[in-house]
Amino acid sequence: MYGKRHRMRLTTAITTGLEQATALDRPAARLRGLVERVPQGRTRDALHGVPIGHPLHPMLVQVPIGTWISASLLDVVPRTGIASGVLIAVGLGAAVPAAAAGALDWAQTHEQQQRVGLVHATCNIVGVGLYSASLIARLRRRPLRGRALALAGLATVSAGGLLGGHLAYRQAVGANHTEDVAHVVGDGSRWHSVGLLSAFVEGRPARRFLGETPLLVVRDGQRARVLADRCSHLSGPLSEGEVADGRVTCPWHGSVFALDDGEVVHGPATAPQPVFETRVVHGELQVRLPGAG
Ligand code: FES
Repeated sequence: MYGKRHRMRLTTAITTGLEQATALDRPAARLRGLVERVPQGRTRDALHGVPIGHPLHPMLVQVPIGTWISASLLDVVPRTGIASGVLIAVGLGAAVPAAAAGALDWAQTHEQQQRVGLVHATCNIVGVGLYSASLIARLRRRPLRGRALALAGLATVSAGGLLGGHLAYRQAVGANHTEDVAHVVGDGSRWHSVGLLSAFVEGRPARRFLGETPLLVVRDGQRARVLADRCSHLSGPLSEGEVADGRVTCPWHGSVFALDDGEVVHGPATAPQPVFETRVVHGELQVRLPGAG
């Protein structure tokens, strides 16, 4: 029991240490500079996962992880060397788009997340190198060396996977940061006032609060569009962003959302913004979030 608790503390100490490791900032900035050269557009949005509504990277990594684990399992079964080699080769091919999607997501995160992400990526790059060496050894008919290298690769990508879990579940990279809104804004069947419509300047984003939930309000003539103000990507304040052509651009990483329905126009965000119903009663702007409560 004591040993288990001790291991958990050690893991936390390592990940916390990485979050605070400012020495990683310089290489992270260099890599970020390279990643940010990828132009905005459909390919970039697709790699973020915009079309499927959540990050693509966790789906893509299933293939290399699955094939590589399978290869090591087959390595203990006699006369399956060719099958193991094929699995390793498939994993290496699948690692390319997985790494591209991960790198794009990583470049649009906070610095503590980038430090952990950099080590996560380094583990996986070393793992790819070990699996490549394993494949070469197998092609040169050195099966024992190939198996040993594959096991070393598996250990390395497992360490990378541990950090990937920390990024996703502790640091909430890729999570929907507006998921809680429907649970904290109260009864979705009741209307709530957010002030006089005349207090809002046409087309200029403003922040109001419904309880403790910040709202983005954009007046449009005699009506208004109201969205959750915290960006679904990493909680950036949309009310400090730019509004134009029926869209709002997050000031932190440039996600673009449609004001009409909150849908993601461009990533890195993948989850839509919650959109409130609005009405104006005697000059007062009222809102409610259908389904909330
Ligand atoms: S917080 Fe990252 S795009 Fe909004």
